[in-house]
Amino acid sequence: MVIGKPFLTVEQIQNKVKELADKISADYEGKNLLAVGILKGAFMFYSDLVRMIKIPLAVDFIVASSYIKTASTGEVKIHYDIKADIRDKDVLLVEDIADSGITLNHIRERMLARSPKSLKICVFLNKSERRMIDVPLDYIGFEIPNEYVVGYGLDYDNKFRNLPYISIFKKTAMEGK
Ligand code: IMP
Ligand code: MG
Repeated sequence: MVIGKPFLTVEQIQNKVKELADKISADYEGKNLLAVGILKGAFMFYSDLVRMIKIPLAVDFIVASSYIKTASTGEVKIHYDIKADIRDKDVLLVEDIADSGITLNHIRERMLARSPKSLKICVFLNKSERRMIDVPLDYIGFEIPNEYVVGYGLDYDNKFRNLPYISIFKKTAMEGK
């Protein structure tokens, strides 16, 4: 199936991930970093990012969903949450994309309620045009226009997550037009 040419190529993605990882490595030197990946969307970005971070860290995950096809339900479901005590941890939430901000805001508040030593957010993509709730983003890979994108972990109806690059998704591609 043709999904269109890459909007962000493998090379652009890898260069950006390295840039983010270098910044995070410098900022978290001597800290107690816990990198929390938000699944499923962030799985590819997360695994590339932690591989390029040069300082010791612990890994954990949150499994959340808020989306049905391309329309946000506005409701966030948490299917799996971290279990550890995070009061002595410098928590970094790692997410694929900030869109309305509803998911990140929900997870951020939930996390803050557990009193981490510090909390920051890293997103690979930011669609700021679509923001409904303001969330502080500390590390941003790319600012992107208001288009639905797939690949590099991002899906449409749980498909296309395995594309190694990011492509703009047009629904007509699914209908063979
Ligand atoms: P938000 O709660 O509206 O910020 O949406 C966040 C979640 O919606 C992300 O974690 C993604 O899983 C999904 N999402 C938002 N925009 C896109 C997109 O363009 N492509 C694929 N998934 C998206
Ligand atoms: Mg997601």
